[in-house]
Amino acid sequence: MWKPAERIKYQTEVETWPNVERAASSRLFSPIGIGGVTLEQRTWIPAMVPWRSNEEGEVTQDVIDWYSRFAEGKPGAIVIEATGIRDIPSGPLLRISNDSYVPGLKRLVDAIREASGGHTRLLIQLIDFLGIRRRPDPQKYFDRFLVVTDQHRSLLGMESEDELTIRAKLSQLSDDELESVLSPTELEALRFGYRERVTDMHIPAIAQLPQTLPGLFAQAGVRAKQAGFDGIELHYAHAYTMSSFLSATNTRTDGYGGSAEERLRLPLEVFARVRDSVGSDFPVGCRFLSDEIIEGGSGLDDARFFATEFARAGMDFLSLSRGGKFDDAKQPKVGWAAYPYTGRSGYECMPSYISDAQGPWERNVEPVAAIRTSIRKAGCSTPIITAGGIYSFEQAERLLAEEKADVVGFARQALADPDWFEKVRQGRGDEVMLCRYSNYCEGLDQKHKQVTCELWDREELEQPDTVLATDGKRRLTAPRWRPDLR
Ligand SMILES: Cc1cc2nc3c(=O)[nH]c(=O)nc-3n(C[C@H](O)[C@H](O)[C@H](O)COP(=O)(O)O)c2cc1C
Ligand code: SF4
Repeated sequence: MWKPAERIKYQTEVETWPNVERAASSRLFSPIGIGGVTLEQRTWIPAMVPWRSNEEGEVTQDVIDWYSRFAEGKPGAIVIEATGIRDIPSGPLLRISNDSYVPGLKRLVDAIREASGGHTRLLIQLIDFLGIRRRPDPQKYFDRFLVVTDQHRSLLGMESEDELTIRAKLSQLSDDELESVLSPTELEALRFGYRERVTDMHIPAIAQLPQTLPGLFAQAGVRAKQAGFDGIELHYAHAYTMSSFLSATNTRTDGYGGSAEERLRLPLEVFARVRDSVGSDFPVGCRFLSDEIIEGGSGLDDARFFATEFARAGMDFLSLSRGGKFDDAKQPKVGWAAYPYTGRSGYECMPSYISDAQGPWERNVEPVAAIRTSIRKAGCSTPIITAGGIYSFEQAERLLAEEKADVVGFARQALADPDWFEKVRQGRGDEVMLCRYSNYCEGLDQKHKQVTCELWDREELEQPDTVLATDGKRRLTAPRWRPDLR
């Protein structure tokens, strides 16, 4: 992963935790309405893909165990990981792409209600993503994948040669020579793996996304409601389709790209269709970026505009992330796909303890506060969820007191210690296992391995009820907190 040049090392430390009375009278542990539902506390576990599903994208026992463990901490809300709305094989990512997924998702909802004693509200993140292939072996790329054209022949000065000869010639060229023969798309396919973009208007399915996506999101929204979720989060963030529509790099000329208004058009149309399908009493919001952190990408001013329009359109909450783009991702190894959290934008999305003078904590807080101010100035009271490097009660309480957000997201801190919320509420914050922001978990995600935390995944491996990862070396959920053993 990309790291700031300064490479200053930071350590998470907490000087004081609240006692029971302070926690009870805090903003953090006070309720808030999100659309028609009430969160008992202003704490939120943002979506995190743990790679617990199967090749069919179904809810497995491991999925249920994973989220039930989070639910035992009784946070205000949990957002289930990015869940695919299309019926396409996508590895062990959860899917909600046809009605057959509803019973499994319902089991998940029921399990979480039970594990949290009904205290936690449950949302699901709905995602669409475009095609991406692994970085090919160069020989295979030239032998098979590359489509040989007259342009190649002409640039090589080999107009009358047959395809095999052209392929052989290309495979012998140096990197510099290839740059003058292959197109930028072909070079990218060779060096990073082929990746579709929303601007690939020559591909009919991509040209038609504005016609197909509203219906797909709406059907998935209806299924989420049928399964018993309390609401849905439309995934408009990071490297995926809807975020790419919002991006300043979206130059489509069909009315869905170019100006900020046109880039916003499809995200608003998707929301309108979802709203029509699930009704006005079912919470619907989105997650999007306070800044893409890429050259030529959307910045804070775009985000303020998008947020205001989302709020005016009637979204029930707005959750803000930042960065996490393919555009500046590192070149993957041969046989691996590019991962959108390896460049600077990825660092801003999940900052690690090796950082710069600003440090890894709260890098998203001020941009989100600015977005919230814009929304309030527009007369909207839409709740704003912030996230990024927040691990202590004092941090969370301060940013709520300063009106920089309305709800606080704890992603990796909840992964490190799912009982954070109950421990702090019960005045036992000194028992919290603090996230180190090592990004060991994110490294596992990058390799599509079952995500665990280095703070607990080697503990009590020999206990009979411990479920191990497929590598046999790690436990899959945090050991149970035993408050009575103090
Ligand atoms: C393993 C892992 C998986 C993630 N998956 C998602 C996801 O599915 N959707 C999403 O919007 N963000 C995802 N994120 C980003 C987090 O929701 C969060 O924005 C980020 O980790 C920063 O917050 P934190 O500092 O509290 O961890 C993921 C993060 C991690 C560590
Ligand atoms: S592995 Fe654990 S300690 Fe390290 S960043 Fe992830 S959640 Fe935090």
